[in-house]
Amino acid sequence: ERTQVAIIGAGPAGLLLAHLLHLRGIDSVVLERQSRAHIERRIRAGVLEQGSVDLLTSVGLADRLHRERLVHHGVELLFDGVGHRVPLSELSGRELTIYGQHELVKDLVAARLATGRPLWFDAPAVSVEGVEDAPVVRYVHDGREHELRCDVVAGCDGFHGVSRPAAGGALREYEHGYPYAWLGVLAEAPPSAEELIYASHDRGFALHSMRSPTVTRLYLQVAPDESAESWPDSRVWKELAVRLGRDQGFELTEGPIVDKSVTALRSFVVEPMRHGRLFLAGDAAHIVPATGAKGLNLAVVDVAVLASALGRFFADGDESGMDAYSATCLARIWRVQHFSWWMTSVLHLAPDGDPFTRRLQLSQLRYLTSSTAAATSFAENYVGLPFPEGV
Ligand code: FAD
Ligand code: DHB
Repeated sequence: ERTQVAIIGAGPAGLLLAHLLHLRGIDSVVLERQSRAHIERRIRAGVLEQGSVDLLTSVGLADRLHRERLVHHGVELLFDGVGHRVPLSELSGRELTIYGQHELVKDLVAARLATGRPLWFDAPAVSVEGVEDAPVVRYVHDGREHELRCDVVAGCDGFHGVSRPAAGGALREYEHGYPYAWLGVLAEAPPSAEELIYASHDRGFALHSMRSPTVTRLYLQVAPDESAESWPDSRVWKELAVRLGRDQGFELTEGPIVDKSVTALRSFVVEPMRHGRLFLAGDAAHIVPATGAKGLNLAVVDVAVLASALGRFFADGDESGMDAYSATCLARIWRVQHFSWWMTSVLHLAPDGDPFTRRLQLSQLRYLTSSTAAATSFAENYVGLPFPEGV
């Protein structure tokens, strides 16, 4: 079995890459460890930058997105019992899209299947070899092992995949942990406010988000070792009401909780994002703490850069785009890493509750919500920095 590009992982990175390559007439095989039902139900990100939406639109993947998305023009920062709206669109000229990642994944899967090109579910890659010159990916499917030879491997298999280890020790990893995690719930309840609310409370961070006019997405800062089982629904609602509460009163709409999980917060970057014919993209190459809502958007940029580089390579053997891939992506990734780390640090309560740090956080938040210069800088980062040139 042979193809031009072996794509490991059918998350947003792998599926979008497959489509961008298809549009350039490049063959690929997409391998996904999980079932189709699993990846189409996995509740994760919900915020898309305008740059991501523009790209999806330009390649014909956003029809349902445009019908069903919610468009937001601001977010609220809540602290000291008072909400402060940051008018993102006024400050940046750009808008935000709310559309569940699993909905996007459904659209991407349907687009891939419509091309008739291979996308195998329940097909874990087990090894990646020969990445210096002649890559071979071994995977299991239908109860037997297969061998896929290819010109290029795209490692889009997330943080825990097999691609990154296949570079041996050739890559340098940078990592930063946080002493807290997020408990996320999805509730069949209309949102309690029209926009997102990022709350910095003395009991910890909370986030009010949404998926549709009838579905709310909510997060609570919890300890990293806490399990979802220690958070029965009644406790979740009580804690959310406290942390999202405000002096003027706040009505939190409750409803059946249909999904509940704990996610660690982590910052991680691998450099470079390439080894020989192996290219890493999305969460396989970098993780940002969820606070800035950037992970999915970074994955989109990586594969846009990679697809144009591979386009030139397969068209006339020009390797310059492939050689520039890592540096092009990393420049933007480190800026986003800093923003995500900063936003995380400003909003979460340190477990030791150091009062000096808390005063500094509140000072930052007051500055951000009273200075147009500070708010403009926040808006520029939150709505999404420009894509690299040529993408
Ligand atoms: P993934 O979506 O993880 O896809 C990787 C795929 O590879 C998976 O389907 C996996 O099953 C598969 N795989 C793994 N190993 C193998 C193997 N050996 N063989 C074959 N397949 C394999 N980002 C935002 O931009 N905005 C947000 O609002 C946001 N909120 C988030 C909230 C939560 C609770 C979480 C957990 C994440 C959030 N993110 C957010 C981050 C975002 O979800 C990720 O950055 C995004 O999923 C990255 O896409 P990806 O395709 O790189 O990786
Ligand atoms: C959502 C997730 C985030 O990490 C964030 O910063 C904002 C919204 C969400 O899932 O809706």
